[in-house]
Amino acid sequence: MKTILDVQDLSVSFDVYGGVVQAVRGVSFSVKEGEAVAIVGESGSGKSVTAQTIMRLIATPPGKINRGSIVFDGQDLLSLSEKEMQKVRGNKIGMIFQDPMTSLNPTMTVGKQIMEGLMKHQRLSRSAAKKRAIELLSMVGIPHAESRISQYPHHFSGGMRQRVVIAIALACNPALLIADEPTTALDVTIQAQILRLMKDLQQQTKTSIILITHDLGIVADMCDRVIVMYAGQIVETGTKREIFRNPQHPYTKGLLNSLPRLDQAKDEPLVPIYGTPPDLIKPPQGCGFCSRCDEAMRICETDVPEMTAISDTQTVRCWLQHVRARPTEMDSGKGASA
Ligand SMILES: Nc1ncnc2c1ncn2[C@@H]1O[C@H](COP(=O)(O)OP(=O)(O)O)[C@@H](O)[C@H]1O
Ligand SMILES: [Mg+2]
Repeated sequence: MKTILDVQDLSVSFDVYGGVVQAVRGVSFSVKEGEAVAIVGESGSGKSVTAQTIMRLIATPPGKINRGSIVFDGQDLLSLSEKEMQKVRGNKIGMIFQDPMTSLNPTMTVGKQIMEGLMKHQRLSRSAAKKRAIELLSMVGIPHAESRISQYPHHFSGGMRQRVVIAIALACNPALLIADEPTTALDVTIQAQILRLMKDLQQQTKTSIILITHDLGIVADMCDRVIVMYAGQIVETGTKREIFRNPQHPYTKGLLNSLPRLDQAKDEPLVPIYGTPPDLIKPPQGCGFCSRCDEAMRICETDVPEMTAISDTQTVRCWLQHVRARPTEMDSGKGASA
């Protein structure tokens, strides 16, 4: 499968009162054609900044892209002019944000908002764009699309608005869809409907998806691969199966232990991850998770661990998994007697 997005060594900071926030610190990952990748992690871990940097939506200043490259469909996005970038946004890469009200224009009918991109990017005539807009609204499950197309966003419920945003994001058949906490603002039942809709559409259209969420639970259903972020860095990546069945980073294990599971005994308590993430104005010298980690060793305080491959598809940034730190046969008593 072809790689559609390749992010390498991305570092982004913000100049704020009191210092410089190191929001994203050397993030590298890629997304293949048709793949659904989740980026998970607690609030403040740098997920949104990563997404907004890919879309070049970071205000500079106060933001600054210090290092790295973002190659999308063979094009280096960081070297494009704003005008060239506008052709990528909403056309080749679609976006869905947490709050549909912030991405919809309250003064324009939803039909007009869907038609805009179709006329601008796809050069459809007004009538062709209208026909397509009605198709898109029906596709995302909005009943009576022919009449609802001339209504304004405030006529729609929260869940219906997010469906409109999805219709806009998909209007130009983007190669990549970035959904940043798309269901966080919605009721749980509506959340499930929207996620199912996104999953169905993704399978139909073969669009690649980056789904950003703080909730590992919603990943289980939707994604092929998971990227775990903590304090501006990627700490673990793997297939969904690897992350859920065989997590390696103490932080990933912590996230999973704080989730309700079907196979859990009734009296087995959920275990939160105690403590708070580090201050990114003064990021820790060693592993970002060190101060909250039960298994921390002295080296964790002083040195950032490198990414270690666990399998062809799983990598982890943890000293416990360093090739020379893993338990050896000698440790387990099976080795030669010393
Ligand atoms: N515009 C901004 N100005 C200053 N700091 C910011 C800005 N945007 C994000 N940050 C900081 O960058 C860090 C990462 O934020 P973010 O990517 O939004 O986290 P997440 O999406 O994982 O919750 C946080 O410490 C946040 O306060
Ligand atoms: Mg966010």
